[in-house]
Amino acid sequence: MSGKATIMGTGSYLPKRILTNKELEKIVETSDEWITSRTGIKSRRIAGAGEETSVMATQAAIKALGMAGVTAPELDMIIVGTITPEMVMPSCACLVQKEIGAENAFAFDLSAACSGFVYALEIADRYLKNAPEMKILVIGAETLSARVNWQDRNTCVLFGDGAGACVLTGSQNEDGMLASQLYSDGRLWQLLSLDAVPRRYCPVVDYGSVPERNSFCDGSAFNMVGKDVFKYAVRGMGDAVENLLKRENLTVDDIDLLIPHQANIRILKSLAERANLPFKKVYTTIQKYGNSSAASLPIALDEANREGKLHKGDLLLFSVFGGGFTWGVALWRW
Ligand code: ACO
Repeated sequence: MSGKATIMGTGSYLPKRILTNKELEKIVETSDEWITSRTGIKSRRIAGAGEETSVMATQAAIKALGMAGVTAPELDMIIVGTITPEMVMPSCACLVQKEIGAENAFAFDLSAACSGFVYALEIADRYLKNAPEMKILVIGAETLSARVNWQDRNTCVLFGDGAGACVLTGSQNEDGMLASQLYSDGRLWQLLSLDAVPRRYCPVVDYGSVPERNSFCDGSAFNMVGKDVFKYAVRGMGDAVENLLKRENLTVDDIDLLIPHQANIRILKSLAERANLPFKKVYTTIQKYGNSSAASLPIALDEANREGKLHKGDLLLFSVFGGGFTWGVALWRW
């Protein structure tokens, strides 16, 4: 019996602390006007004490399990897409497993930067093709604020924290993951990179003043050539969408909603323009939450789901791009 991944439930967690552009004006030389016009971001969420990556991932997972009507011991596999786990060992996925009591699952993290969630969905789908009875928890969770250089205005304005999750099982019906394609190009790694973590935790601070944790994270913050990332992101996501639609004998008119990685509103507008997709068919959360890497797509998915924006039979496209470079696209029947 062959199946394909279908989403039973979604969940997300956003840190309580909202950091606005106005507050950032006090930290680096920037302005609300510059950030809004260049990125579309008005505010982002910043994880505080007790909101480590695995904690946010666990909260998102609990909500997704609740919606799916699946209990933690029923899970067979847990994958967490993250580049900012609070520990390298154990994995964030094992910490989530412990917290929710998913003792029958095997669990691992997946490192594909902003593409982590779609990479994880693709792996889950491969398992579900052969074993459709499996229940798989896929999470994207990040604490990027712990790794940002808060004195670098080129990068610190872009990122936010959070987690999103979904519970998957196999479907023999029309719903589920119809097609996907993943890509990587390691030759371009220097355009967007983040060194390995030097210590277990970067201290969490109150952002009333310049964050102190910079001193901890010196030398291990984001390196980014913004203009090139922009160019490759639009090209990579645009080509991936076009190729997948062609392969599946579809046109953009068939797509009901594009839920992309929330990198930058201008990247998303350029992508929509390139794909000939009206921008009203692109779901965005970037204004409120900034770029939360692997967490951004599942947070947007959960929000769209809970707001009733996804209807049975809708054709959805997930599109991602991130460091590595990694990118990918997945087509879903809701
Ligand atoms: N506030 C004010 N000025 C700033 C800021 C800031 N926060 N950041 C940079 N500037 C300045 C620059 O120093 C530069 O000044 P200069 O001309 O005196 O040197 C000027 O603004 C213009 O900078 P540009 O780099 O030309 O600005 P650009 O229009 O390219 O926008 C941005 C920069 C927003 C980073 C853009 O390149 C971008 O969005 N790139 C994609 C990056 C991205 O999305 N990264 C996320 C990770 S990857 C992913 O998720 C896909």
